[in-house]
Amino acid sequence: MRDQQKLVDYLRHRTPLTSVVSYPNRGPWGNNRYPGNCSGYLLIDLCATYTPKRVLDPMEGGQTSREVCADLQIDYTGYDLRTGTDSLHDDIGEGYDLIFWHPPYHDMKQYTDDPRDVSRSGSMTVFLSLLRAGYRRFFELLAPDGRLAILIGDLRRRGHYAPLTAEVARLDQAHLESIVVKVQHNVSSNKTTYTGSFVPILHETLTIYRKTALK
Ligand SMILES: C[S@@+](CC[C@H](N)C(=O)[O-])C[C@H]1O[C@@H](n2cnc3c(N)ncnc32)[C@H](O)[C@@H]1O
Repeated sequence: MRDQQKLVDYLRHRTPLTSVVSYPNRGPWGNNRYPGNCSGYLLIDLCATYTPKRVLDPMEGGQTSREVCADLQIDYTGYDLRTGTDSLHDDIGEGYDLIFWHPPYHDMKQYTDDPRDVSRSGSMTVFLSLLRAGYRRFFELLAPDGRLAILIGDLRRRGHYAPLTAEVARLDQAHLESIVVKVQHNVSSNKTTYTGSFVPILHETLTIYRKTALK
């Protein structure tokens, strides 16, 4: 059972969304053991900023956004391959004011054995083509003036840096509205002491596209 008072208090005291956010406590929304789950406070800030009537999360995982929208009493639709929907191909509706897309970070965590799983894309080239295909699809499903917000992080593979945040930021210059840097908490690199020249990755980005021609 979630404590509704927590939401009321947060909404009363929250500061407006800026280009840097940090939520040391992820809040009571969604399954905190789901791999790669995100903080419900990010969803609350997005909804408080854009006041959407209809929200879609096409890869909802541990259902953080579903629970936030339930508490905010916002019309919500959510899907995930783990519950049988391939959001890149199946019918997932349209006319959403806000789509929150939190895809797998390439193969950092593999979610299912299903070949349609984005985390099973194999090469970075195939992963990036799925990212572009997902972007085109979800952008199409927005209502006029709707927002598509994409949460992703960078990763390293055998010393090579893969700048997924930059790839997402370059998807569509004509509709790019904001980039929010989100400080990461409770990741294993937070608890590690590093020596030498290694720079750990302690942030993700939320890139926001708006379905209107920006001048
Ligand atoms: C980073 S997780 C989302 C975590 C979620 N935001 C949370 O707070 O728990 C990415 C999700 O994408 C799902 N996924 C991967 N490929 C998919 C596809 N083709 N269609 C629908 N969901 C997919 C995975 O099953 C996984 O749950």
